[in-house]
Amino acid sequence: MHRDGTPQYGPPVTDSDAGTAQGRAADDDDHDGDGYFGEAVAAEYDDPSSPMFTPAAIEPAADFLAGLAGDGRALELGIGTGRIALPLARRGVEVHGIDMSRAMVARLRAKPGGDAVGVTIGDFSATRASTTGGDFSVAYLVYNTIMNLTSQEAQVACFRNVAEHLAPGGTFVVEVSVPRLRGLAPGQNVVPFHTSPTRWAFDMYDVATQATSSNYVEVVDGRGSYRSIPFRYVWPSELDLMAQLAGMRLRERWDGWTREPFTSESTKHVSVWEKPTTG
Ligand SMILES: C[S@@+](CC[C@H](N)C(=O)[O-])C[C@H]1O[C@@H](n2cnc3c(N)ncnc32)[C@H](O)[C@@H]1O
Repeated sequence: MHRDGTPQYGPPVTDSDAGTAQGRAADDDDHDGDGYFGEAVAAEYDDPSSPMFTPAAIEPAADFLAGLAGDGRALELGIGTGRIALPLARRGVEVHGIDMSRAMVARLRAKPGGDAVGVTIGDFSATRASTTGGDFSVAYLVYNTIMNLTSQEAQVACFRNVAEHLAPGGTFVVEVSVPRLRGLAPGQNVVPFHTSPTRWAFDMYDVATQATSSNYVEVVDGRGSYRSIPFRYVWPSELDLMAQLAGMRLRERWDGWTREPFTSESTKHVSVWEKPTTG
């Protein structure tokens, strides 16, 4: 994410990510079924200079999820290159993933321990994980990736799909930005988040539909290019209703993985919904 806390391939999570590979995500826009995470993005996704790839970002998330997994299994929607899945697996948790990008999953496979993580290729709002190990004790969707589902219907479908994968008492964890509409000046629909002599990046908001996009204009060797990546921003309360539609209820909401309080100033949240133990 970029400027505010949504992911860089999804919408932003920290300001310091501005100007990274998010701007390249549209290069291979859905030409091969990999969506916005085709070969060119996958090749550069794991960026050690990004705050999202530091131990400070990864280890607390893996600890949090391992605690919820307990002795059970974990399902990651949008598992990608295994940024979170592999540290979670190293904690002794059996992890399975769903992702539509074969290019991203190939990077996961190439890493130590990657072979031990089962992955089902497909759209995580609709795909059933192909695994015989029984229901999952925790499912999770991090790094603003729920915003990659660009309609409310798809986001609701995602919650329903997760509920079908969870064992009774299982939990669903989402890490996502709080929509940054406060950043919009009255009458404006654009929030810039990066400017340099050769690159300009900005988000655009349609507050009527909650459609948003991250947009990049770049000049290389005197030639300009423009890319746009669509997202749908979603409110915390709206996610609670989606969970309710799927038969789950909010159990915890935090500002981050180390359980900092969620407040009116929080720019992101880590929320946990629970599937009832009965019914
Ligand atoms: C921002 S990356 C996050 C990857 C990983 N979870 C992480 O934290 O680094 C988003 C991932 O979700 C996948 N993705 C996005 N929308 C998807 C969808 N509707 N169905 C399946 N995978 C999707 C992309 O292919 C990509 O691997």
